[in-house]
Amino acid sequence: MSDLLRVDGLCLATADKSLVEDLSFTIAPGERFGVIGESGSGKSLTALAITGLLPRAIRPSGQISLAGQQVVGASERQLAALRGPAVATVFQEPLTALDPLMPLGRQIALPVQRRLKREGADTSRTAVARDVRLLLDQVRLPDPDRLIHAFPHQVSGGQRQRVAIAMALACRPQLLIADEPTTALDVTTQAEIVKLITALVDELGIALLFISHDLAVVGQVAERVMVMRHGRAVETGPAAKVLTAPDDAYTRKLVDAARRFDTALEGRA
Ligand SMILES: Nc1ncnc2c1ncn2[C@@H]1O[C@H](COP(=O)(O)OP(=O)(O)O)[C@@H](O)[C@H]1O
Ligand SMILES: [Mg+2]
Repeated sequence: MSDLLRVDGLCLATADKSLVEDLSFTIAPGERFGVIGESGSGKSLTALAITGLLPRAIRPSGQISLAGQQVVGASERQLAALRGPAVATVFQEPLTALDPLMPLGRQIALPVQRRLKREGADTSRTAVARDVRLLLDQVRLPDPDRLIHAFPHQVSGGQRQRVAIAMALACRPQLLIADEPTTALDVTTQAEIVKLITALVDELGIALLFISHDLAVVGQVAERVMVMRHGRAVETGPAAKVLTAPDDAYTRKLVDAARRFDTALEGRA
């Protein structure tokens, strides 16, 4: 099967500083791929490069092929055509994805409308409302009647992230990028969101690029992982292998630290 995403020799740099160097990896259709790395290692910039949303000061070189379209050097129009059908992103802080002044139901309705239009389907109010309900149900949000009319600040952080996930799924993307989607949430909610994302991408057959600094979280989600440090990939391979018997010294340090943390927690229990 041909790759859905192919990143080949990607370099990202400002005028005077290299931020990501010679990064290469692929994601197959329906595959769950994880990126682990400490803060500042270049994970988010890589995600932004894939969606063509890099800050102006940062220039990409190398190749990114997404759903058969070259991203580096593509026009804004070509990129706009990719966002939605090819890729959608869930960010760390759901408030950044949400309009504080718009009821949640209407916010989910916008990408639903765009997708129905793209598909040449029925875009009547009834059809859109039906899809919004379906999405609320898919992301396991209770009490849809209240939620549709609620504003972002009136629901919990976990519920806001579920709404952001619903908005991303409304596009029916082939690839879902989740950039630290649980980092801003408490531990219990984190676990629920991780389970939800994993279940949904499997259910819908969507590929996942899951980014986190938390090794344990990535281990729960990803079939294959890439470990990044200082803008480079230090190790890529099956999650079961990389997270238990890593080849790279830095990965081994991460794995050992996570193990020590677990043991310390068990000791306290
Ligand atoms: N707009 C920018 N201009 C210059 N440097 C940036 C910009 N955005 C991010 N960086 C730098 O790029 C590096 C990687 O950032 P980022 O991809 O956000 O890291 P991560 O997501 O792994 O924490 C960091 O050193 C960061 O300071
Ligand atoms: Mg980041």
